[in-house]
Amino acid sequence: MAVYQTTVSAPVNIACIKYWGKRDTKLILPTNSSLSVTLDQDHLRSTTTSRADPSFDKDRLWLNGKEESIEAGGRLSTCIVELKRLRAAVEAQNSAAPKLSTFPVYIASRNNFPTAAGLASSASGFAALVASLAALYELPATPSQLSVIARQGSGSACRSLFGGFVAWEMGSAPDGSDSLAIEVAPREHWPDIHALICVVSDDKKGTSSTSGMQRTVETSALLQHRIAQVVPARMDAIKDAILRRDFPAFARITMQDSNQFHAVALDTDPPIFYLNDVSRAIIAVITEYNRAAGAIKAAYTYDAGPNAVIYTPKENVKEIVELLLRYFPQSQPFPDPFGLDVNNEGKLPAGFNEKVAKAFPVASVKGFIHTRVGDGPRKLDASEALLGSDGLPT
Ligand code: DP6
Repeated sequence: MAVYQTTVSAPVNIACIKYWGKRDTKLILPTNSSLSVTLDQDHLRSTTTSRADPSFDKDRLWLNGKEESIEAGGRLSTCIVELKRLRAAVEAQNSAAPKLSTFPVYIASRNNFPTAAGLASSASGFAALVASLAALYELPATPSQLSVIARQGSGSACRSLFGGFVAWEMGSAPDGSDSLAIEVAPREHWPDIHALICVVSDDKKGTSSTSGMQRTVETSALLQHRIAQVVPARMDAIKDAILRRDFPAFARITMQDSNQFHAVALDTDPPIFYLNDVSRAIIAVITEYNRAAGAIKAAYTYDAGPNAVIYTPKENVKEIVELLLRYFPQSQPFPDPFGLDVNNEGKLPAGFNEKVAKAFPVASVKGFIHTRVGDGPRKLDASEALLGSDGLPT
């Protein structure tokens, strides 16, 4: 008996121009375009195995080993139904194609980073789900076409269908057919861009992106200005900066847009706070780092939580890690996949005004993850499958 199974991994992406607000909550159509950098799957990824089998009772999904329910009409079910529909079209064209669209699927997905790391896993997770079913069904679809489906799982997921520098064009069609991701530049265009994720302790449960952004749409006057005036110009300017590999311009826009996203969160009624004291101290340290250097050498950005992501050219990573270790001491040595020889005692760069922030206790930053711009979804071989021969998670 033939086994119909594929395994795919997909990357995390972190936005420079933030998506925040939906004009259609069911189709997940945004109120503004956005742009992100795809991070390297060698360090952070979601892996998904999908299998179609006529003997399965119904569609089932396991996330990190735990079964999740697939509710009819929910985000997971929307993606699966949509991909089965595309498979049925393939079968209608080719009578020899096995009727996989009629078989139930089992799907197992795993993130290689702990949920406790506070990184959004919905983007890489939905991208891996869509890419794995698309590979299983041998769909003749482009990453942009698949991004339309991933978008309906989680908006930011559409950008994880590409590597490198990715725009999500908001589109205008009511059915969402033109609200999709496009590649601005592949990672090979600017491989020098590295990312340092600062995992900031967060005890309280924050407001989810989905409910937070809806409240912003309903109550923030500043969001209307952002959507109409600010983002369109920034999208053009940051694409141009990427194409010219102009790091200072890229970094300035990235920091401005993170700041404005947190300003519209604060402008929401009741207000939403995602940054904490540690997040704000990291902003102060990076701002002073750029001032002391007399050039913009690093950019911070924050999503819907207190973790910082710092983008910088590779040559600056060691200096920035040592600077951050001065303020945010660690109990463990800095784990570096690139073999940087970091002074774990920390070090201030020349001319740096130490007083911009106080030193925090150990573990105020739980850890650092050093990665870089990466590629799009990868098809993996059978040895990496997450479903065993019985079709259940291994
Ligand atoms: C702050 O994609 O998680 O990370 O579409 O409701 O699933 P849903 O929201 P989600 O929102 C991400 C918001 C953000 C900014 C961004 O990634 O662009």
